[in-house]
Amino acid sequence: MIKYIKKSRQFIIENDDICYSFYLTKEGVLQHLYFGKNTKELNIEAISNLDQDWSRTYFDTSLNRESVYEDYYYAGRSMMEIPSHGFAEKRGSQFIIEHHDGTTLTDFRYVSHHIYKGKPQLQGLPSFIDDKEVETLVITLKDAHYDVSLVTSYTIYKAHNAIIRNNTILCNEPHIKVKRAYAFSLDLPKNNYQLMHFPGDWINERNEVIEPLNHGLKRLYSNLGRSSHEQNPVAILIDENANQDHGECYGFSHVYSGNFAIDINVDKLNMTRVSMGINDEQFSWLLNEGDSFVVPEGIMIFSNKGIEGITQTFHNIIRENLINPQYVNKVRPVILNSWEGCYMDFDTQKIIDYIDAIDDMNIELFVLDDGWFGKRDNDTRSLGDWVVNEKKIDLAKVIAHTHKKGLKFGLWFEPEMINYDSDLFREHPEYALGYSSKERALSRHQFVLDTVNKEALDNVYNQITKILDKYTIDYVKWDHNRNVYDAYSHYLPANRQGETYHRLVLGSYELMDRLTKRYPNILFESCASGGGRYDLGMLYYMPQVWTSDEMDPMERLYIQYSTSRIYPLSTMGAHIGKHKTADYSVKAKLSAIGVYGLELDPRTLSEDEKKTINGVTKLYKEIRKPLINNGTLYHLSSPYASNFMALMSVSEDQEEAIVQITSIKKETIKYRFLKLKGLLKDALYENTYDKKVLSGQHYMDIGLNLSRGRNVLETDLIHLKVVKKSKE
Ligand code: GLA
Repeated sequence: MIKYIKKSRQFIIENDDICYSFYLTKEGVLQHLYFGKNTKELNIEAISNLDQDWSRTYFDTSLNRESVYEDYYYAGRSMMEIPSHGFAEKRGSQFIIEHHDGTTLTDFRYVSHHIYKGKPQLQGLPSFIDDKEVETLVITLKDAHYDVSLVTSYTIYKAHNAIIRNNTILCNEPHIKVKRAYAFSLDLPKNNYQLMHFPGDWINERNEVIEPLNHGLKRLYSNLGRSSHEQNPVAILIDENANQDHGECYGFSHVYSGNFAIDINVDKLNMTRVSMGINDEQFSWLLNEGDSFVVPEGIMIFSNKGIEGITQTFHNIIRENLINPQYVNKVRPVILNSWEGCYMDFDTQKIIDYIDAIDDMNIELFVLDDGWFGKRDNDTRSLGDWVVNEKKIDLAKVIAHTHKKGLKFGLWFEPEMINYDSDLFREHPEYALGYSSKERALSRHQFVLDTVNKEALDNVYNQITKILDKYTIDYVKWDHNRNVYDAYSHYLPANRQGETYHRLVLGSYELMDRLTKRYPNILFESCASGGGRYDLGMLYYMPQVWTSDEMDPMERLYIQYSTSRIYPLSTMGAHIGKHKTADYSVKAKLSAIGVYGLELDPRTLSEDEKKTINGVTKLYKEIRKPLINNGTLYHLSSPYASNFMALMSVSEDQEEAIVQITSIKKETIKYRFLKLKGLLKDALYENTYDKKVLSGQHYMDIGLNLSRGRNVLETDLIHLKVVKKSKE
């Protein structure tokens, strides 16, 4: 899959579908050639031919004269693999390093390379997982002017249309400051892309936005200490001739949960440069001689099957090579979470009543959310005091009752936070992150725990393990309820404060790593005020995520739709709430395309409402493994672009499918034929909507006949199953 052609000094990284290539100039510069469909027809001379008249010279100080670069290298004009910084090149650099003498010239040149079967796993950082059919090219480079090296690598899986990038900077100077460390930089010799990205807010996560890219720099970013509600760390470039199912698209992300930047620069050469990594705002990292810095991993995806091709690669690689392997084929339990039902207002009897009230509802996991510890009756206190509030709740009794009923038991934690009104803060005010000024930033009455400080980290780790060792807990909801504005660590010296944001993430990862490894049988779900930390980094530690705190189905359907553009349904928490915008039939059907559950006071449900929910739960359990966990997702109709949402998932063997449709507006009778995708052309499928038996070809070419009037938010789940494998 990876080869080096000595004669042309060309690297080719390919699988059946994609090809990524660059070559080595005589000066040792890595010059980018191509990333796209694998045509097997790549001709270097034909594609690296910029206007030859442009000056390609430099002043050679050793010879005291002007010299000419050979090959095709034009500093500042060529397609660069690892763009230098400050050496006649200012189009946006992957690395910026301040050297011991104060310069920021960064210009890496080739030293050696090797190719191996396998994939690097990073120390202290999440990364895509090794596989049997994966190869990596590792290139060592050294700065042309300074004693700094870079080990950069490219990984390709046989099964995924993605290139995974890793980088480590090694310092052999007395000291340097890394000012920018991106996972990758990709030069595309075109400027006619549309950008799809996912900005948002709390209870309004991941809006799907498509906008044209014009000349200039567009930066998507978070500077809030987590990947954020404000901008999900993903960008998709859509070629002018591409659409949902056809044409060329590129997808980008990285395996990281902190501040990020995606820089998209359309420049004077009509070229588009996309680079991504740790946001360089408030970032600098001091390395002394012999130290190294590991850059979080990046992923670049290519699709010639439109946006859906990007989605499917994200889904497959996340499911197969990112999440904890034990969950690849394991379905997630149906949840009842206490939060929206009673918030922190509960006692032992109320919780037991909740559990009794779901006796006949096929729930598999009960989760006691916030409010069980310290003196936590409201959100002003006790984060950091992870001891059971025995006056409020008899946890052992509740757990025993839950287990007796055949349910699993889960508990809520927010390990990376500390309230000023907590014993932990009273004893250790230095454990809270933040400037020691007269006014300190609070959000939800809390500070961020300084996970840079090993002692603070151990303290919380020890408290949590005491609980998890003592009680039989099957699930942990791991929350993170505020942004980090005040990234000042009392633990770090002044000249290392630029490291705080990244070290904070490393500390959190360490905590997650230790706890998830110590409790391999606990299912962890990530949450951050809803979906404020939905990213590839978190998914490495926790296979599911609470998508949003928004419980209004009318709003939530948008969030779920756009979330599923990137993240698999099996990761996407989708609960039925008490919100009155729609009835339980609609809410349950909307939740069934995700990690299904309830989040309400079950005692308030009427028998009829339970019956309605139970009907959907039954169907959900039937489709959960083949279609929610392992299915291929198709986005048939976007609520962002029309008044009708339709999603479809098809099983691996293509013999079964589920279609979810929702009308956003009330409609009188309208013709509507919904063309399905991914079915077997010749097989006959019966659908549960009009009970018709039709061929896959019919469903795909003519469509499912949905022509009738619809109410606002009317939702259907249509199940298709093969009744006969061929038309004959
Ligand atoms: C966050 C989460 C909610 C709930 C509360 C508890 O807002 O998103 O689901 O857990 O915290 O305080």
